[in-house]
Amino acid sequence: MKALVLTGLKQLEVQDYDKPEVKPNEVLIHTAWAGICGTDKALYGGLPGSADAVPPIVLGHENSGVVAAVGSEVENFKVGDRVSVDPNIYCHKCQYCRSSRPELCEHLDAVGVTRDGGFEEYFTAPEEVVYHIPDNVSLEAAAVIEPISCAEHGVDLLETHPYQKALIIGDGFEGQLIAQILKSRGVHEVTLAGSNDDKLENNKKHFGFKTINNVKHPEEVKADSYDIVVEAVGLPQTQEQAVEAAARGGQVLMFGVGNPDSTFKVNTYKVFQKQLKIQGTFINPYTFEDSIALLQSGAVDPLPLISHVLDFDHVEDFVSGKLKGVSKAIVKVAGEEA
Ligand SMILES: NC(=O)c1ccc[n+]([C@@H]2O[C@H](COP(=O)([O-])OP(=O)(O)OC[C@H]3O[C@@H](n4cnc5c(N)ncnc54)[C@H](O)[C@@H]3O)[C@@H](O)[C@H]2O)c1
Ligand SMILES: [Zn+2]
Ligand SMILES: [Zn+2]
Repeated sequence: MKALVLTGLKQLEVQDYDKPEVKPNEVLIHTAWAGICGTDKALYGGLPGSADAVPPIVLGHENSGVVAAVGSEVENFKVGDRVSVDPNIYCHKCQYCRSSRPELCEHLDAVGVTRDGGFEEYFTAPEEVVYHIPDNVSLEAAAVIEPISCAEHGVDLLETHPYQKALIIGDGFEGQLIAQILKSRGVHEVTLAGSNDDKLENNKKHFGFKTINNVKHPEEVKADSYDIVVEAVGLPQTQEQAVEAAARGGQVLMFGVGNPDSTFKVNTYKVFQKQLKIQGTFINPYTFEDSIALLQSGAVDPLPLISHVLDFDHVEDFVSGKLKGVSKAIVKVAGEEA
């Protein structure tokens, strides 16, 4: 079978691999689609994702497919089931796992990061991280449950109310999903501040969000004005802008991942005076079920946000940064026919 292997720093190669064997607790999945994101860019460039990727490794932490075989101990899946995999495998033994904060696990393993993921025709995952997909959700949409579930976890850390006004800074896939999730929670006014007119127009058209081009017209983001501000870029200037834009009593969600060495300035008097909550968020602990429900009900629709469908030969164009203007790229492995 074909596998797209990260063989070293900035080296991706299509190789012929044997189909993996299932261990007793594992499910073998015939890959339909695999999403591709900034984490894959980081891993390709030798930076850590949620954990370190050690080559040779097959990336693909966002994925969907159809069960092709099950191990002897697997109880809840059978051949032919449509599934998606939560990449995070928690140890269930460390102090964080044992105090209901598994996302902070000290021994995190991840499909597509520390073990082979969806950039190959067949991959395996332990039953505990495999999820069933409802009939009315396409395998294409199911391939992006992981990024939806990260957005869902971030929003879970906020207190949401209908009266609130929310600002999302960053029109990447995550910022666009967070906007939809906040709307699904009843937040009455959602503004997306991005840097790409096409993405902003698309969101206005499909989801009715207010939009601001934050690069051309940053003055349209008013200071002290938003009850919820989500920073989904990861740059010091947008992190500072997020704190500035928060209203009194505001909550600031720092969703974007900064460079490991970067810092931003905070006016601590404003944090005091506005009684701000500034919240970090890390990955997606047990938010797959909620994300699947959001897809099933139509409250979140990722399909209008998918701008590029790639094959294995073109994944490098994305991870190397050659491909511009991407809203969301996914890799077609077997597609809906998996
Ligand atoms: N907290 C988590 O668990 C988690 C999970 C996934 C991704 N992330 C992080 O969230 C961030 C967003 O992820 P993504 O997949 O959407 O990435 P992305 O690269 O697709 O999106 C970033 C977006 O920010 C826009 N942008 C750049 N400068 C801007 C500015 N000044 N104002 C407004 N928008 C600007 C870019 O045009 C782009 O659309 C990244 O930093 C990513 O690493 C965090
Ligand atoms: Zn991802
Ligand atoms: Zn743990």
